[in-house]
Amino acid sequence: MLNDRSSILSLLETRRSAKPRELVDPGPTQAELERMLTIAARTPDHGKLFPWRFVTVDDDQRDAFGALLREALVEHDPCATIAHHNKEDEFAHYAGQLVVLISAPVADHKIPVWEQELSCGAAGMNLLLAAHAFGYVGGWVTGWRAYSERVRRAFCGPGECIAGFIFIGQPGRDMEERPRAPLATVWKPWQPPAT
Ligand SMILES: Cc1cc2nc3c(=O)[nH]c(=O)nc-3n(C[C@H](O)[C@H](O)[C@H](O)COP(=O)(O)O)c2cc1C
Repeated sequence: MLNDRSSILSLLETRRSAKPRELVDPGPTQAELERMLTIAARTPDHGKLFPWRFVTVDDDQRDAFGALLREALVEHDPCATIAHHNKEDEFAHYAGQLVVLISAPVADHKIPVWEQELSCGAAGMNLLLAAHAFGYVGGWVTGWRAYSERVRRAFCGPGECIAGFIFIGQPGRDMEERPRAPLATVWKPWQPPAT
C-alpha cells in the first residue's frame, strides 16, 4: 500500500506536458483510450451535469481535419501565407491520439456556467494525468482554431465550445522541466479582515 501511494505521488509530482508538435507515435490503444476517458470523466461536477464531452479524431480523419482547419484559416485570416496553411495541415497530422475537449455547459441552470467551465478544465487535467499514468504524455493546446466559429461548428452543438485539443502520444525527445510557481507565491494562510 505504501509503495502504491509513493508511486501515485511520484506520478502526480512528475507529470508534465509535451509540445504536441514534438510527439511521436504510438498513441494509446483503443482499450487504453477508453480507460483514460473513463478516468477523465470521473471529475468533480456540481449538479451532475457532465458539462463536458470528448471528441476523438482518428488517424483516418486527419486529412478531413486538416481541410477543415485550412478552410477556417481563410475566414480567420484571409491573408494567411501558404506556410501558415501548411502549419495547420501539420497540426492536423500531429502524432498520437487527438482528443478534442468540449465545454458543454447547461445554460439557465442554477449551477453557474463558471462552475461548469471549471469542471471542464478539471476533466482536461484528469485526462492529462490518466495519459501520464499509462506512460504517455499529453499536450493541451488551443490557439485561433479553438475560437474559430467554423471549427467550433464542426465539433460542437449550440452553446458548446472547444476547450482544447489534447494530443496524447510519446515524447519525441527528452522532456524539459518548466518553471513551477514557488509555493510561497501561490499559498498563504488566510488573514481574516480587520474589523
Ligand atoms: C486551456 C489551455 C490552453 C492552452 N493552449 C496552449 C496553446 O495554444 N499553445 C501552447 O503552446 N500552450 C498552450 N497551453 C499550455 C500547454 O498545455 C503547456 O504545455 C502546459 O501548460 C505546460 O504545463 P505542464 O507541463 O504542467 O503540463 C494551454 C494550456 C491550457 C490549460
